[in-house]
Amino acid sequence: MSQRSGSDPRAQLPLFDPTQLPVEPARRPHLPSRAEEREPSPAVTPTAQAKPAATGPGETVHAGALQGLPPHRGGVLKWIGNKHRVAASIVATLPKDFSLYLEPFVGSGAVLAELAPRVAIASDVLAPLVAIHTQVQRDATGLVEAYRERVVASEASGSREGKEAHFRAVRARYNATPNADDLLFLARTCYGGVIRFSARGDMNTPCGVHKPIRAETLAARIAAWQPRVAGVRFEVADFEATLDRAGPGALVYCDPPYSDSEGTLYGAQAFSLQRLLAAIERAKARGARVALSIDGTKRSGRKIIDLALPERLFESESLVDVGRSMLRRFQMEGQTLEDERVADRLLLTWPT
Ligand SMILES: C[S@@+](CC[C@H](N)C(=O)[O-])C[C@H]1O[C@@H](n2cnc3c(N)ncnc32)[C@H](O)[C@@H]1O
Repeated sequence: MSQRSGSDPRAQLPLFDPTQLPVEPARRPHLPSRAEEREPSPAVTPTAQAKPAATGPGETVHAGALQGLPPHRGGVLKWIGNKHRVAASIVATLPKDFSLYLEPFVGSGAVLAELAPRVAIASDVLAPLVAIHTQVQRDATGLVEAYRERVVASEASGSREGKEAHFRAVRARYNATPNADDLLFLARTCYGGVIRFSARGDMNTPCGVHKPIRAETLAARIAAWQPRVAGVRFEVADFEATLDRAGPGALVYCDPPYSDSEGTLYGAQAFSLQRLLAAIERAKARGARVALSIDGTKRSGRKIIDLALPERLFESESLVDVGRSMLRRFQMEGQTLEDERVADRLLLTWPT
């Protein structure tokens, strides 16, 4: 499966100007009916120019983010490397006065949903993953029903062997024709949400041992998720194309594939850290602020991933503990790795 666009995206995509978008109110939590699903939904819910909003003496909120949303629990997608557990800490580190939010490695969108930006572009190189996000916005009933059908068929297959055979059949269908419905089921039922591809581009993760969440739980999570992503335009794009749209006032959060361990995950074959750092440098020079999550320490902090970072590109950093590594557990064939802890470095192009 080819997951990169071949042309130079910078030749086609101008800096994104949120003030040029028509204004409409944020949508409410809502699973659309079949009739509604057929209508095209607006891609972006924009905002007026963002300003820090005072909430009390000396206190500010994210002016670039939607306010007063009910809390959400649990992600729509199970995705290796997701930031669900630490999304609140990451968001707390981000500035509050941005006019446009960009997330070029959106994955399952943990930070995106936690932040709930008013105007955003979120992209990923994996097209069926992006299709899941757009269906959550536009066609959630269809997505939930497709998930329900697969879970029911899996349960009806009875034995462990039957479930594995059903999983392999869905995986084969996905590999023949990559699509959102099958990917959502595979991500929710495969081993640890590890979306791993063979050199040929086939998803090859085995069936997990856990019981997948029920369709009703998925529907509830989507309902809580929808208002949080109402202002987001989801796009299939290489990270460089998205980063190159960040102008003054933009905030970018990058969560790329781990440089030392995720070479065969998602569409990570197309990823290059040097290319990312160069794009961040250009975005910073244009006046955007960029936060980058990257491998920090592994094995109880004993191993420090050594990266050659351009001098003065990042002006501050913090360590975020992300817990035990699901990927290492997968690589070690299910052993419990008691001392396997991972901490991400959060590098910031601005001083704190
Ligand atoms: C570590 S995951 C992001 C996880 C996300 N923060 C979350 O909470 O789920 C990295 C993502 O980068 C995507 N990716 C890999 N190579 C890419 C590229 N060249 N351009 C854009 N996205 C890419 C993968 O498909 C994957 O979803």
